[in-house]
Amino acid sequence: MAAPVAILLVGILFAAAAAELPRLDHAHKGDGSLTLLVVGDWGRRGAFNQSMVAKQMGIVGEKMDIDFVISTGDNFYNNGLTGVEDKAFEESFSNIYTAKSLHKPWYTVLGNHDYRGDALAQLSPVLRKVDSRWICIKSFVVSAEIADFFFVDTTPFVLKYWTDPKNNTYDWRGVYPRETYMANVLKDLEDALKQSKAPWKIVVGHHAIRSVSEHGDTQELLQHLLPILKAHGVDIYLNGHDPCLEHISSRDSKLQYLTSGAGSKAWRGVQTPNADKVEFFYDGQGFMSLRLTSAEASLAFYGVAGEVLHSWQHAKPSGY
Ligand SMILES: *[C@@H]1O[C@H](CO)[C@@H](O)[C@H](O)[C@H]1NC(C)=O
Ligand SMILES: *[C@@H]1O[C@H](CO)[C@@H](O)[C@H](O)[C@H]1NC(C)=O
Repeated sequence: MAAPVAILLVGILFAAAAAELPRLDHAHKGDGSLTLLVVGDWGRRGAFNQSMVAKQMGIVGEKMDIDFVISTGDNFYNNGLTGVEDKAFEESFSNIYTAKSLHKPWYTVLGNHDYRGDALAQLSPVLRKVDSRWICIKSFVVSAEIADFFFVDTTPFVLKYWTDPKNNTYDWRGVYPRETYMANVLKDLEDALKQSKAPWKIVVGHHAIRSVSEHGDTQELLQHLLPILKAHGVDIYLNGHDPCLEHISSRDSKLQYLTSGAGSKAWRGVQTPNADKVEFFYDGQGFMSLRLTSAEASLAFYGVAGEVLHSWQHAKPSGY
C-alpha cells in the first residue's frame, strides 16, 4: 500500500509547486487606453525627496487620469516592515502618497530591503484594511486586455543575499530552497506568457536586468529570466533597485529595459558602460509614466519638479 500513497503525495506536491500565478483583472479605460505611474525604492517617511516625488506623481497622475500605480519594490527602508502593525506602512506610504489621483490600486513587488524585515507582513490582507490601495503579491499577473503585466519576485534569484557577507538576514519563509523556488517562478511565468493574448507584455521585477548605475546588470536575471522574456516577445522590463531612472534598449530584441527606482534616496554618482544601448540615464530622484493603447506605447520620466527628463513613443507593428 505504500507505493500508491507515495505516488499520490508526489502528485499533490507537484500540483502545489507548479501552481498558476495569481491573476488580477484590471479594466482599461472606455477609450481603450491604459495609463499608469511607476515608482520604486521609496519608503523613507518622506525624506530624501520622497515627498516631492509623491507630490509630482499626484499632479501627473491627475493629468493622465491614471488607472493604477506600479511599485518596483524596496517599499520600506531600511529593513522592510517589522510586522503588519509597523507604523512605517502609514508613515512611508499612506501619509505620503495622499493625492486623490494616487488613490488607485498599487501593484507592488518586494525588493531585497523588504526581505530583510517581515516579508510576509507586506503580503498580508491586514494591510489592505489599513490602506485598500495596497496589493503586494510575490509573483502575479495583472491583466488589462491591451496589456498583461507579469510581476516577478526577483530577490531570491540573487545569490549574494543567501550568503550575505554583511550578515543581513532575509525572510526566506516560503522561498527556501532557492533552486526549487526559482524554477517554479520561471515555469509559472513562462506558462502565463504563453497564455497571454495581450498586444503588450510587460514584466516587472525589483532587480534590473540591465543597469548602468551602482548595482549594474543582475547576472542571475541575464542568465535565467532574460531568455524567457526574449523567447516570448516581451516588450518592456520594468525594475527598481538602482536608485535612478534609466531607459536601455536591447540590441537584439524589441525589449526596452526601464529602471524607475528613484522614489527617495538617489545621487549615487556612478555610471558604468553597458552592452545594450543606453537611451537615457538620470542619477537623481523621480518616477515614470506609461500610456498604452493597443497600437502605441508612450513613456516619460519626470524629476522632482515634475519636469519631463526623457520621453519615448513606440507604435506596435500590426500583426503582433
Ligand atoms: C532633492 O532634489 C534636488 C533636485 O534634483 C537635488 O538638488 C537635491 O540634492 C535632492 N535632495 C536629496 C536629499 O537627494
Ligand atoms: C558575520 O558573522 C560571522 C559569524 O558570526 C562573523 O565571523 C563575521 O565577522 C560577521 N561579519 C560582519 C561584517 O559583521
